[in-house]
Amino acid sequence: MTFEKILVTGAGGQIGSELVPYLSEVFGDKRVIPSDVRSDNNDERFIRLDVTERDSVDLAMEKYKVDTIFHLAAILSANGEKNPELAYRVNINGLYNVFESAVKNKVGLVMTPSSIGVFGPDTPKENVPIETITRPVTMYGITKLVAEFLGNYYHSRFGLNARGVRFPGLISYKTPPGGGTTDYSIEMIREAVKGRGYECFLREDSKLPMMYMPDALHSLLRLAEADDSKLKHRTDFNIASFSITPKELENELRSYYPSFRVTYKPDFRQKIADSWPGSLDSSAAVKEWNFHPDYDLRKTVEDMIVNLGGVGKRDKDNILEAQNK
Ligand SMILES: NC(=O)c1ccc[n+]([C@@H]2O[C@H](COP(=O)([O-])OP(=O)(O)OC[C@H]3O[C@@H](n4cnc5c(N)ncnc54)[C@H](O)[C@@H]3O)[C@@H](O)[C@H]2O)c1
Repeated sequence: MTFEKILVTGAGGQIGSELVPYLSEVFGDKRVIPSDVRSDNNDERFIRLDVTERDSVDLAMEKYKVDTIFHLAAILSANGEKNPELAYRVNINGLYNVFESAVKNKVGLVMTPSSIGVFGPDTPKENVPIETITRPVTMYGITKLVAEFLGNYYHSRFGLNARGVRFPGLISYKTPPGGGTTDYSIEMIREAVKGRGYECFLREDSKLPMMYMPDALHSLLRLAEADDSKLKHRTDFNIASFSITPKELENELRSYYPSFRVTYKPDFRQKIADSWPGSLDSSAAVKEWNFHPDYDLRKTVEDMIVNLGGVGKRDKDNILEAQNK
């Protein structure tokens, strides 16, 4: 049985804060249980749950008769490099607890998002397939790669229905991003809307795959509902909507705000970005569960600006002016 009682871990984060309302709309408020280690949450359904505490995870599964889990609790790439021990504990031990408890409680589906962090400097740079050289050099990437293998192992060994996508950088406006390497994209759009300049922590030519949050949410649900017999992969689907460099985003923003300026001052996150590919081959996701994103760069930026209360207008004059600067 699935989608009768849906536990979302890490629900207070960038994805969780949007996935919870989305799932509530699709399946009904009563079926969704948001949880997080942070207790600053006003949702009356919210429970505090630290996924590194096995007993608490077991208790929550039993008490709420959970049949579906969206496991979002994690420490992201940049924060993981600041605190590798915590990243290991949350991303590996926390996931292990969730998998073990899910098997014990006969949970029907565990969604475990992975990341482009599983790739490394030896991975080819463009149109990267799912099966390729994956030799991550960050603690985050290592934990995410182990998580993919663990999910496949729990499926083949214990029949656990674990599924996941390798998310690219996610762009959204509702909740600040959680300390990842692609956070610059959100920060840059926010600063442009406020009429300020932006100092970017990546080089202007660092091309990375990206996706707008609505496409991320639809993709998660589409994979969650996919027919099991059609899935050749499980935990490691590549998905991406578009690839951009910081400079391309700056130029897109200048078509709304011609005087917007970015200075580039790469920090420790540049090394992480350099180890990731510029574009992904998402064809397995298209074939196996009909992945299709709706937002390209232009639609994403337009929607972000509107939702951040921006008054900028993309028009021919702005674009020409931006190109001449
Ligand atoms: N946001 C992105 O750009 C992106 C890209 C690729 C993959 N992902 C993956 O998607 C998932 C969710 O990412 P996000 O962007 O929402 O991250 P986030 O950092 O915004 O949120 C993670 C949440 O997990 C919670 N958390 C941390 N430790 C916990 C613990 N011990 N127990 C319970 N909760 C804990 C945090 O409080 C936070 O609310 C992660 O697996 C991440 O690796 C995200």
